[in-house]
Amino acid sequence: MNTLTITRPDDWHLHLRDGEQLHAVLPHTAKQFARAIVMPNLKPPVVTVDMALAYRNRILAALPVDCKTSFEPLMTLYLTDNTSPAEIERARESGVIQGIKLYPAGATTNSDAGVTDLSKCHATLEAMQKLDLPLLVHGEVTDPDIDVFDREKVFIDRILAPLAYRFPALRIVFEHITTRDAVQFIDQSSQQIAATITAHHLLLNRNAILQGGIQPHHYCMPVLKREIHRQALLKAATSGNPKFFLGTDSAPHARSAKENACGCAGVFTAHAAIELYASAFEQVNALENLEAFASFHGADFYRLPRNQNSITLKKENWLVPMFYEFAGENLVPLSAGTIIPWRIA
Ligand code: DOR
Ligand code: ZN
Repeated sequence: MNTLTITRPDDWHLHLRDGEQLHAVLPHTAKQFARAIVMPNLKPPVVTVDMALAYRNRILAALPVDCKTSFEPLMTLYLTDNTSPAEIERARESGVIQGIKLYPAGATTNSDAGVTDLSKCHATLEAMQKLDLPLLVHGEVTDPDIDVFDREKVFIDRILAPLAYRFPALRIVFEHITTRDAVQFIDQSSQQIAATITAHHLLLNRNAILQGGIQPHHYCMPVLKREIHRQALLKAATSGNPKFFLGTDSAPHARSAKENACGCAGVFTAHAAIELYASAFEQVNALENLEAFASFHGADFYRLPRNQNSITLKKENWLVPMFYEFAGENLVPLSAGTIIPWRIA
């Protein structure tokens, strides 16, 4: 297979940041994807509909001229202990908020204002269930006694399974899953629960963080896992099962914040997102299932129309730059300085 034409894909989990950083990264996403679910973990976080509408306007204003009508940001609200059911109603009425994001407090970048105890959010979750507004979940416990590599599995047992049981009609996206346990949980769950999978978790296992010295550009949350987990994710993503779909979790941080004694979590993949997924699917001879994963399953789950136009990928080697410009700093992309075998025509 030397070319692959697929319906234009969407990114169902993306960090766009704000200000100059937003201007630097948005073109990468807008050239590939028709829509993206935009994460609300700004400083301060996007906790109200008014804040989300203002952020949406800043994103639209930052779009390159040739993408003004071809890319649509899909907005989210950041769930806190104090998010009210009334705010959920406003979110539903706005028509532009597609999900409410749960960050357990302290789980990752800018999650300090996240939820400390989900029982404080029950009335709000009731409203989301009633109004059919999906909950997007960062699925890791933050208990310091739990091993970092077990945070996702323990989250399923302690938080997610009881949550799904208590709110059986709530649609839930288990974001950026990283373990075989999460794949099994999704497989066994109702149709109300789906999962996104990143390109970096399909391509790398945890050796990539520590081989040949510490590799800060491979550090993200949830952290990369063992090879058995990567294999389970690859199988799920390429299976054709509509519960699994594309979400890059592309999360840019300046090089100085990554190559640091206390380096930030996040992998930037927007520069080559669909090409990186194509490489992963090709590894297991499953390119014929890329379109459904990248362009159909997410839209169907979010009950949005599938995109009409298409993109074409060519089998062509290209060299990923060592860095991109990022608001006066450098941004090191995944696979910097190496060859990627697929390229958008
Ligand atoms: O690695 C990550 N980076 N994981 C997250 O959940 C957040 C993200 C970020 O915003 O940098
Ligand atoms: Zn994320």
